Amino acid sequence: MRKPIIAGNWKMNKTQAEAKELINALKPLVKDAECDVVVCVPFTDINAVVEAAKGSNIHVGAQNVHFADHGAFTGEISADMLLEAGVEYVIIGHSERRQYFGETNETVNKRTLTALAKGLKPIVCVGETLEERETGKTEEVLKKQVVEGLKDVENLASVIIAYEPIWAIGTGKTATADQANETIGYIRKVIAENFCPKCAEKMRIQYGGSMNAKNAHELMSMPEIDGGLIGGASLKAEDFSVVVKM
Ligand code: 13P
Repeated sequence: MRKPIIAGNWKMNKTQAEAKELINALKPLVKDAECDVVVCVPFTDINAVVEAAKGSNIHVGAQNVHFADHGAFTGEISADMLLEAGVEYVIIGHSERRQYFGETNETVNKRTLTALAKGLKPIVCVGETLEERETGKTEEVLKKQVVEGLKDVENLASVIIAYEPIWAIGTGKTATADQANETIGYIRKVIAENFCPKCAEKMRIQYGGSMNAKNAHELMSMPEIDGGLIGGASLKAEDFSVVVKM
């Protein structure tokens, strides 16, 4: 059985003071959660969130990591810096990074290999655009993202994949539970065929894209969906806790 994992992706939201307030409100609401609970926060919030979450079941993640140990990479952050600050998880290759900041399957792969080598748990994001879905290219695009993004990864079972159809992100338009389940089943098949069938069974694959308190139950009841990567609905303690408790 795969343990579900619900992760909030705060994106570029919350000052440290706001972050502390949110974590303090969240702690009692999610303390009995049966899934893994993660919040992926802006770099500047990490210390405050780690401190506020101490002693709770809330785990802390970052939203990116560089593949080099250190060096002249202005604006980037290393795995050691994140680990020292108390980070356990890291989102890699979010569609916003692919779309606005030139992230490619190759850089996703490099970041993933580094994260794993250092002991961070990567949440690797994949997903198709609306045009790709409408022109029947979803499977082709996802296969390429998965095969290239996870190239040479040895401990695949430690990787979490987030399937986030781009047309569902921040649009209020979720994939239907059947669509999400079917597509995640396809991703699992790609992993089984191109890497290892056992790992494919063990790997947790989340759905992301306008997942919220209202639709989480239906999505989470699907057999292939092992959790969610939550954007907007993770910014309010009450909403996020409802998703966590599904
Ligand atoms: P929304 O939940 O706001 O659609 O964002 C999803 C997402 O991009 C999570 O990484």
